[in-house]
Amino acid sequence: MRAIPTNELIDIAREAREYARAPYSNFKVGAAVECANGRTFTGCNIENSSYGSTLCAEQVALAKAVSEGARGFVRIAVIADADRPIPPCGACRQVIFELCGREMEVVMAKLDGQFEIRKASELLPAPFDQTFL
Ligand code: THU
Repeated sequence: MRAIPTNELIDIAREAREYARAPYSNFKVGAAVECANGRTFTGCNIENSSYGSTLCAEQVALAKAVSEGARGFVRIAVIADADRPIPPCGACRQVIFELCGREMEVVMAKLDGQFEIRKASELLPAPFDQTFL
């Protein structure tokens, strides 16, 4: 079920991007994750002077959602000021696959609203997952 039009989910991610803390890269990222019931959670990147402690926008949105008891994620939009739709980094692909499953839709957007959609299984075709554990 898709309760929210794609452009509205992108708009929500774009607003969240305004809160990005990116003093080192100046690369602001916003994210919005949608649950099957239409509830949304937002995230932005939060950089740290100890660079490895930086949080990606997608993981912030998913951490907020999971920690508030949300489940059943269907889409996540991610947006940045780039000349092509921004794909999630490798670590985010792993987290998205783990928490949202292979059918999760990832909406990758530019600031002007142009977007591409890929499933988690396309972005991470050979996942490490719980079947190995
Ligand atoms: N970043 C994200 O927030 N999500 C991604 O999927 C790619 C990278 C952030 C991390 C860092 O603050 C900045 O973009 C530059 O790497």
